[in-house]
Amino acid sequence: MVTAGGTREPIDPVRFLGNRSSGKMGNALAAACVEAGAEVELITAAPPPPATAGVSVTQVETAAEMQRAVWRALDHADILLMAAAVADYRPRRVAEHKLKKSADELTLELVPTVDILESLRVHPRRTRVLLVGFAAETDDLLANAAEKLRRKGLDLIVLNDVGAPGIGMGADDNAVTVLDRDGVVLTVGRSPKLEVGRRLVALAAARLPAARRADRA
Ligand code: CTP
Repeated sequence: MVTAGGTREPIDPVRFLGNRSSGKMGNALAAACVEAGAEVELITAAPPPPATAGVSVTQVETAAEMQRAVWRALDHADILLMAAAVADYRPRRVAEHKLKKSADELTLELVPTVDILESLRVHPRRTRVLLVGFAAETDDLLANAAEKLRRKGLDLIVLNDVGAPGIGMGADDNAVTVLDRDGVVLTVGRSPKLEVGRRLVALAAARLPAARRADRA
C-alpha cells in the first residue's frame, strides 16, 4: 500500500487547507512497486496517476478519509509506504455556505486531525505489515526523524529535507536518508523520484520477514 499527496481539509464548499505535496513521490513508489512485481493499492489525495496495470487507486480528500482507506487496505497489505503529507489540523467547523468577504478579520479555529500511522498501533494486522513512514523536516533532521520513527512505531523512516532547493515536495527529484531503530541504513543522493522509489522499494522488500516473502513468491 502506498499513500500519496497532501490531504485537503475543507473550510467551506469552495476552500480548503492544504500543503505543497504533489503526489509525485507516492506515484513513483507505486510505479517502483509494480516494477518489483507487487500489486499496489495507491491511496491518494493528489490527482491520480494515469491508469497502470497492477495499481488500484483510492481517491481521498481529508486525513479522516485517508485513515479509513488505510485501515481497510492494511487488512491485506505486506508493506505500507506512507508518503502522503497528511494535514495535522483541520478547521473545527466546515461552513455549509461559501464564507462571504467582510472588512473584519477572520479567525479559523483548528483542531488536530488523527495521526494515521500512530492510530495503526491497535490495528489487528499491525505486526504483520512493514511500516515505512516519511519525515518532512527542515531542521534537526536526523534527530527529528529518529524521534518520529519511535513515536509512530515504524520499521523504517525516510527522511526528506523539505527545506532544500530542487528536491522534495512538488519537485521531480528527491534525496533521502533512511533510518531504522539502529540508525541510518540508506542514503540516496539527488535523483529522479522513480529512482529514489526503486531504492526504497528494494530496501523495504529486503526487510519483509522471509516467511512473508516466501508466501508471496
Ligand atoms: N502522518 C500521519 N498522520 C498525520 C500526520 C502525518 O500518518 N496526521 C504520517 C506521514 O504520512 C508521514 C509521517 O507521519 O509518513 C511523518 O509526517 P510528518 O508530517 O513529517 O510528521 P508529523 O507527525 O506531522 O509531525 P510534524 O509535522 O510536527 O513534523
